[in-house]
Amino acid sequence: MSDEQLLFVNASQVVTCQGPARARRGGEMADAGVRTGVAVAVESGCVAAVDTMAALRARYSAAREIDCEERVLMPGLVDSHTHAIFGRPRFEEQEMRAAGLDYMEIARRGGGIHSSVRDLRERSEEELLSLARSRLSRLASFGTTTVEVKSGYGLTLEDELKTLRVIDRLRRELPMRIVPTFLGAHEIPLSHRGSAADRQAYVDLLIHEMIPAVATERLARFADVFCESGVYTVEESRAILTAARSAGLLIKLHADELTPYGGAELAASLGATSADHLAAVSDAGIAALGAGSTVATLLPGTMLFLGKAKQAPARRLLEAGVPVALATDFNPGTSPTPNFPLMLALGVSQLRMSVAEAVTASTVNGAAALALSDAVGQIAPGYSADFALFDIRDVRELPYWYGDNRCAITFVRGKPCHTSHLGLT
Ligand code: NIG
Ligand code: FE
Repeated sequence: MSDEQLLFVNASQVVTCQGPARARRGGEMADAGVRTGVAVAVESGCVAAVDTMAALRARYSAAREIDCEERVLMPGLVDSHTHAIFGRPRFEEQEMRAAGLDYMEIARRGGGIHSSVRDLRERSEEELLSLARSRLSRLASFGTTTVEVKSGYGLTLEDELKTLRVIDRLRRELPMRIVPTFLGAHEIPLSHRGSAADRQAYVDLLIHEMIPAVATERLARFADVFCESGVYTVEESRAILTAARSAGLLIKLHADELTPYGGAELAASLGATSADHLAAVSDAGIAALGAGSTVATLLPGTMLFLGKAKQAPARRLLEAGVPVALATDFNPGTSPTPNFPLMLALGVSQLRMSVAEAVTASTVNGAAALALSDAVGQIAPGYSADFALFDIRDVRELPYWYGDNRCAITFVRGKPCHTSHLGLT
């Protein structure tokens, strides 16, 4: 945090996303709070005021001015779903899928997540730290200021703790805001697939050893489970998440990614903070989410990269009043892109969201998916000065220049986090 007063002036638009400190749903998502002719005052790393330049210059006469040069200033993007700690990229699987081998079939043959597990177990904390550091800096370069990072390629107590320690070190070292999630239930490890008893032994290990250790060492804020046919059943997921909650962790789920499986219903019944993926969510799942407060985090990059024709039914979720968030799912298997603005492009073109809905989904609702609604995702008094300045004149250009990187600079707690060649002059 910086004590210096700052005044962000001359933005073509300030996208405030201002409103209540909670997830937005329905018609609330149609308003991203786009303002013209305003400046933003920052004090002690937080937004102090959004008002006309003249009014703020009078009130903050000692402030250092930052000239936004007629570009768009918005809340830093909140990426609420990534698996950013991994070793080797799995590029070989892309051609395997192109040749007709399904994602789950690759996993059944010992590839997929298992392949990343074998690889991560052989790497030291230092190696993983240096790989993750440069990968997170790629994410930051596209405008992301808050990022959730999951474990889940260790699947032993020791390797999961190793991964979470890497996340913890990154959290202390990098200016980005990092939220750690324990995903020991990412797969059933190959060592525990021989019999039902082996499988139960791993679930027991998660519940009785891993979750308590993670909670005691305060290495995660959330616990997550890959609830999917062929991975964790609904009942196993419920048991694991209930144990995690009792240990003081918040909960989220990988739900109904590939087949309708009851993950959304489980998330709603547990009051999970978020249910993620949902490309195959059932009507009952949509209704259950609509009646609750769980955020539906959609990951359109994943379906695109897997070559699936289907995307999550975003419009039906929105119409049912479900708060929707967007995220990258950055991971080595199904979504190796650090480009969050590309998810906004897919949100509009594939999920049929309006630009305001996609922006709200990437800021306020991303924050809600991380239980950070009162801290980030808005440019409003009291919120952390976590901003992204994009080299565009109108926020509708953000999903338009798809695949491009228009991010000039990001700020976290009022301090520059990532600067690009488009940065401030
Ligand atoms: O969110 N679905 C499970 N986990 C990741 C994929 C991880 C991997 O393939 O390495 C996902 O898509
Ligand atoms: Fe995921």
